[in-house]
Amino acid sequence: MEPQNKNSRPQRFPQRLKIGGCDAGELAETHGTPLICYDEAIIRDNCKRYIASFARNGNRVAYAGKAFLCLAMCQIVAEEGLYLDVVSGGELYTALQAGFPAEKIYFHGNNKSRDELTMAVTAGVGCIVVDNTYEYQNLREVARASRSLQPASILLRVAVGVDAATHPYVMTGHFESKFGLSLGSQELDSLVADALNEPSLTLMGFHSHIGSQITDSRSFTQAVDALFAGVRRYLTLYQWSPPELNLGGGLGVPYTADDKQISIEEHCALLLNTAQRHMDDLNFTSRLTVEPGRSIVGPAGTTLYRVGAIKRTPNGRCFVNVDGGMADNPRVALYQAKYTCSVADRLDQPGSFTYTVAGKACESGDILIWDHPLPEVQSGDILAVNTTGAYTYSMASNYNRLPRPAVVLAKDGEAKLIIARETYSDLTRLDRPK
Ligand code: LLP
Repeated sequence: MEPQNKNSRPQRFPQRLKIGGCDAGELAETHGTPLICYDEAIIRDNCKRYIASFARNGNRVAYAGKAFLCLAMCQIVAEEGLYLDVVSGGELYTALQAGFPAEKIYFHGNNKSRDELTMAVTAGVGCIVVDNTYEYQNLREVARASRSLQPASILLRVAVGVDAATHPYVMTGHFESKFGLSLGSQELDSLVADALNEPSLTLMGFHSHIGSQITDSRSFTQAVDALFAGVRRYLTLYQWSPPELNLGGGLGVPYTADDKQISIEEHCALLLNTAQRHMDDLNFTSRLTVEPGRSIVGPAGTTLYRVGAIKRTPNGRCFVNVDGGMADNPRVALYQAKYTCSVADRLDQPGSFTYTVAGKACESGDILIWDHPLPEVQSGDILAVNTTGAYTYSMASNYNRLPRPAVVLAKDGEAKLIIARETYSDLTRLDRPK
């Protein structure tokens, strides 16, 4: 080794972003941009952490597929031993195509069609989460007509009357919500009574999901308390205790340094301890299920964009325009979501400049990040937006006829394409000339 000159500065190599051991710049080169890159080890680790902290004594963890679903994701979820929550015929189809065991699927949705209900019953889905009376009546007819020897297992989705501390668009447990039957309502009382006497259905219990991106644990405690108040009601009314209570998902993840964080372990312990206290009090035991989406895939995803035009306004704001935006990530436009980003091959350089990252859609609202510190950016740079694993690809659109991005899964320095980039011919595939 060369002797070090004490006065010389250590040589600085530009630090490059790695995802699952793969160089981000090379991923962008190989697969093009925009590119959503998942670090497989992070997804698997989050699954394992949920299983280790929640899935004892018959309790279950179901991954909420709406956060991100494709064949490969279904395979990972199955391999890690989680159940799966699907919310549409399309998600159910994806899971079945992937060979995900139907009996480990929860089927959600506030307006499932009769076709979707039939599809679920025919496939032998493990549990249908019934949202409302109309759906209950439809399902009862479907279940009665089906030739299945087994009754269909159901949970009734309830609104527990909790205003979760989150963006109003992703609150779901308040009484004014479009989701679920209000706890304490006569409508719910009569559905419970009917379901308990219906041979084609098995009422397993209740489901409550109060919202998403929640980082205030009080919202979760309030929801569990309210749910058990409901359980007490049916113990009194019908001497019935639910074999299963599904506590939903909703655990938030930090997107920026200002965001609070509750760890998966803390969150699971809080849910389990709160529920256990109530079960001890009421003297019964029920299987508990939790349904995380974002906290499994959110931190595992990074979106790579290539910088194109750079524009400075008369007031000095500098826009870096990237080759994606609200079409592949509508979360900023919808919920004013905040993200952080970096220049993929200059992680070591200080953020001495302030940039606004703009998408390429014809909308002034198509801004991914306002006023973010970065080293000097040049056209052609690869910009990496962090924590984009949840509700990005699954909410992506073809607005402006932009093809949806490709998705890769990276692990130990190898990246596998799990969703191919849409092509222009995909865009006209369903069009018919007049
Ligand atoms: N269970 C049910 C019934 C749900 O509706 C949801 C999410 C989850 C579980 C999973 O919640 P998570 O753990 O991912 O928070 N598009 C919005 C989020 C919508 C969440 C919808 N339901 C966003 O981008 O913030």
